[in-house]
This record gives sequence, C-alpha cells and structure tokens, in this order.
Amino acid sequence: MEPVKVGLLGLGTVGGGTVNVLSRNAEEITRRAGRGIQVCCAATRDPHKVRSCNTEGIWLTTNPHEVVTDPQAEIIVELMGGTDLARTLVLKAIAEGKHVVTANKALIALYGNEIFTAAQKAGVMVAFEAAVGGGIPIIKALREGLAGNHIEWLAGIINGTSNFILTEMRDKGCDFAEALLDAQHRGYAEANPTFDVEGIDAAHKLTILASIAFGIPLQFEQVYTEGIGGMTREDIDYAGQLGYRIKHLGIARRVVGGIELRVHPTLIPYRRLIANVDGVMNAILVKGDAVGPTLYYGPGAGSDPTASAVVADLVDVVRALTSDPENRVPHLAFQPHALAEIPI
Ligand code: NDP
Ligand code: HSE
Repeated sequence: MEPVKVGLLGLGTVGGGTVNVLSRNAEEITRRAGRGIQVCCAATRDPHKVRSCNTEGIWLTTNPHEVVTDPQAEIIVELMGGTDLARTLVLKAIAEGKHVVTANKALIALYGNEIFTAAQKAGVMVAFEAAVGGGIPIIKALREGLAGNHIEWLAGIINGTSNFILTEMRDKGCDFAEALLDAQHRGYAEANPTFDVEGIDAAHKLTILASIAFGIPLQFEQVYTEGIGGMTREDIDYAGQLGYRIKHLGIARRVVGGIELRVHPTLIPYRRLIANVDGVMNAILVKGDAVGPTLYYGPGAGSDPTASAVVADLVDVVRALTSDPENRVPHLAFQPHALAEIPI
C-alpha cells in the first residue's frame, strides 16, 4: 500500500526531529500504523539553511499555503509556532478536508475551541499530544488511561525551559541569562522565550490539560500566570537552606463553584518526588477518584522527545484513516458542543 503523505509546516527543532524519527523508525512505525508515513513537502523560511534532518525527497517551499494545498498531503503537521499564521493555515487545512497534527500549545489554548468546532464540522482529526509535556503521553493518559475517573486535581512541572534554568542556577551557579541562553541553544525555549520565563507557555499547557481533565472549554484568560522571571540565585540558595526547592508548577483543581487554574514558582520540600525532577524533565501528577494519584514523567522539550509525540499522533491518525469514519473525530479532537460550562 502507498504510504500516507504528510505536509510539514516548519522544519526546525521539532520538524527536523519528526523527519528524523519517521526515517529512523520507519519499519516499526509502518507496522504500528498499518501504512508507511512519508513527508512529501515542508515549509521553511530559509530553504538554504543547514538542517538537522535529511530533506532528500521532500519538496521545500517558503510558502506554507502551498503545503496546505498540496494535493498529495493528506495530513498537515503544524510545527511553525506562533498563532496568527498558524491559525489561518490550520483552519485552511481543515477546510481542505485534511487532518492536522500540531505541537502548538499557544494555538490550541487560544484558538482550540474554534479549531475543534471546524474540525468536527469537516469530519477531520486534530491531534496535539506534543503540545503538553514534550514526549510524555499525557494527553492520551488523561483522555484514555484515566477515562473512568473523576479527576480531582492535577499539578506539575510543565515548562522544560523554566525547570532547566532553575536547575542550572541551583547546581552550577549559573545566572539566569546564562541558563536561558543554554536552554535556547538546546532548542528547549520558545521562539519568544518570555513565553517560557513569564509562565505563559505553562499557562497555555495548563489550559489544555484542564480542558481535557475537567471537560471545560479552553479558557487561557482564566489562568493566574506568574513565571520565574524574577528568580535569583539567592532565592534558590535560601530555599535550599530551608529544605525546599523552587519549582515552577501548573496547578488545576476543583474548588467550590468551579476550577482553579494557576501557574507560579512554588516552594516544595526537597524530599518530595516532584522536587527532584530536574533539568528539562517534566512531571505531572494527576489525582483521579478511582485510581488515586498517578505520576507522568519524561523530557518536556527537545527535538527527538517532542517528535516522539508528534509521530505518535501521526500513527493514531493513520490508524484511524483505515477505521470507521464515524469514530474518528471523538477519538482525537474535542467535542466543544458537549463541554459543560463550569465557571472557573
Ligand atoms: P523552530 O523555531 O525551531 O522551528 C520553526 C520552523 O518553522 C522553522 O523551520 C522555520 O523555518 C519555520 N517557519 C516559521 N515561520 C515560518 C513561515 N512564516 N513560513 C515558513 N516557515 C516558517 O521551532 P520549534 O520546532 O522549537 O517549535 C515548533 C512548535 O512546536 C512551536 O509551536 C513550539 O511551541 C512547539 N513545541 C516545541 C518544543 C521544543 O522542544 N522546541 C516542544 C513542544 C512543542 P526556518 O527553519 O527556515 O527558520
Ligand atoms: N518551550 C517549551 C518548554 C517547549 O520549555 O517546555 C516544550 O513545550
């Protein structure tokens, strides 16, 4: 059978990783998906840039609209970042009847309600596992593994860059700017790193997690947001002397009359598991009424780990393409009309 053709919007840290993982693990991926998955075209700003992946056989263009409308591409993978152009392109892909995979948490947190409504009308799938927790399959865990639970709360380290900076400052005595630069060189940070250090990226992710966990619409504007921007080495040292570590957490929990959503630096006793999650690693605790507390841990950013989640979504979409179309959309996209309006 012919491989399913995929159009990539972006060939940077995550896009390059996606091409690499698809090529390196092609045999296993084909077996699991039931068909091969082949990148046929990709949009970049600079087609002459040296890439971390082999682009042989991939048609490169600087016009992302050409990827979306390429008749060969059945699935569009949005890995460009930003929200304005990304929203236009994703909605265009949906209107073209194409399935979409994205790692763009800002896009989903801000425009997910609109995107999922459009996808549902068009009968296409929108998958976004890589948008939260990098390589950790947290979306799947919440949606599938914990489907039988009433979720009471979730809390975790959901920004790899912030955790990396706090760890470098504590363990190596780096200053803030130095540690941030290192995170950027490693491909962990957002194109605009203030999203990481001011807590905005974590707030995007918490918006998505809460929507799935509690069945509420995406409401980014309701998240109390504070980042690690003001953190100094002295803060970290004093916390250590008192037996604490400073971690940037996202917390969503049921309170009387609604759901509380907040992201901020937190003092955690150093013996706690989550206080020992260091570097770029993320960890998310989820408490369900049936299962009790569960913990999901893994690399929260970076090329291959994030590509792992993107490719998992691609495998899911390709599997679903060969299944009953009636079952596709509920499996991978939200059903916004079915969500309860719980006040936050
Ligand atoms: P990069 O900046 O590394 O890559 C962005 C890519 O998009 C580049 O290839 C760039 O082209 C291309 N691009 C940007 N704008 C345009 C445009 N207007 N036209 C054509 N091409 C364009 O970003 P990342 O890979 O780090 O991130 C991509 C997405 O994944 C973001 O939404 C991010 O939030 C998300 N994400 C990132 C993670 C990470 O660890 N980095 C982890 C999880 C999610 P060129 O290369 O020529 O500049
Ligand atoms: N900038 C993000 C982070 C990338 O550091 O967590 C992963 O979503």
